[in-house]
Amino acid sequence: MSTFKKLPLLLLWLTAPLLITAVTFGQACDPTTSHLNAYLTYVDACDDPSGMYACASNNTCAFKTCVNTNYLKNWSNTTHKFPSRCTGTKFCPDNGLQCLPMVAQGGACELDRDDECAGGAYSICLNRVCSIKGVPVEGNCVIESTQFAYMDQNGEEAEGTYERDNCTVGAYCENTKCIAGLPNGAPCTQDRVCFSNSCYNDGVGGAGFCGNPPDSFKEVPISTWAAIGVSVLVFMLLILLALWFLHRYQSKKEHAKIQRFFDMQDALRQYSGNDTPEMSEGAILLGTPRLYAHSNKSDSSIVSDIRNRMSMPGSRPSSQLLS
Ligand SMILES: *[C@@H]1O[C@H](CO)[C@@H](O)[C@H](O)[C@H]1NC(C)=O
Ligand SMILES: *[C@@H]1O[C@H](CO)[C@@H](O)[C@H](O)[C@H]1NC(C)=O
Ligand SMILES: *[C@@H]1O[C@H](CO)[C@@H](O)[C@H](O)[C@H]1NC(C)=O
Ligand SMILES: *[C@@H]1O[C@H](CO)[C@@H](O)[C@H](O)[C@H]1NC(C)=O
Repeated sequence: MSTFKKLPLLLLWLTAPLLITAVTFGQACDPTTSHLNAYLTYVDACDDPSGMYACASNNTCAFKTCVNTNYLKNWSNTTHKFPSRCTGTKFCPDNGLQCLPMVAQGGACELDRDDECAGGAYSICLNRVCSIKGVPVEGNCVIESTQFAYMDQNGEEAEGTYERDNCTVGAYCENTKCIAGLPNGAPCTQDRVCFSNSCYNDGVGGAGFCGNPPDSFKEVPISTWAAIGVSVLVFMLLILLALWFLHRYQSKKEHAKIQRFFDMQDALRQYSGNDTPEMSEGAILLGTPRLYAHSNKSDSSIVSDIRNRMSMPGSRPSSQLLS
């Protein structure tokens, strides 16, 4: 056979992977082949680069209608409406085909999808069965052990195992019995064995130690609240005290001014033979405390100034009074 006759075959062989990856709506598929890969990432039977298809129970590829994220990188809005999140008592399964009602205790759930189980915060999907994480210390328990692959710090593929159990918060399962969690500082290999539910290690495997999670709620002790309260109170009292002193100082000054006003009016009245001062310039000057209140001159010199002004109506060298 000549190489020319082989060419169409070669082309078909080269383009075959492209033909295989392109998925269309209604294309045949086997939903039982959908699975989680070694990294525990969901891989659908309709594995399309766009991520828009899921293998439905009628063995055909259909568009996804729900999501557990706000963003799908390769979704084409022009091809199909963007999927929505499930609300209320419904959840979106790994395949994203459609929202489903939450599963009751004892029902089947997908790996570690605690959110698929009805029953609130203590429901847990353990060994793919909805259960309650609430077995007390000394009670019978079971461990779920999951292998997974990950990239370590050097970018090399590594394998890990994580475990979960149905013991209540603060306890962990060992030899099918729940025992109290380890205190902070104790050596550990899994989060679940720590009372704090946080086991820290150096990232290269091996034992770590129990500690408080970085986002833990820090309880503020009563003494701190008391100190804050007392500080606020003392601060307020200091401000009030300062205002009171300021007020006292100002009213003293004001009193002194008024006292001087009456003293000088007395002095002027004595000068004019105990008669009420005439409505002359002198009386007007006296009725204007601003003119002499801030003057450094003695009372008697101001009174004599006013006497001079009264005997020389018309001229008003007020600078003499003010300086
Ligand atoms: C998006 O599509 C491209 C090619 O079509 C593919 O290489 C890429 O892995 C896809 N991205 C995601 C997040 O699947
Ligand atoms: C198969 O199921 C999907 C999703 O439920 C639906 O969109 C599609 O029309 C069905 N196909 C057939 C041939 O019934
Ligand atoms: C697609 O539509 C969704 C919701 O309507 C929107 O959040 C998203 O940004 C859109 N994506 C693109 C690429 O336009
Ligand atoms: C926890 O698991 C054990 C062992 O499977 C089981 O006997 C027990 O009933 C479970 N407890 C709860 C509260 O689900």
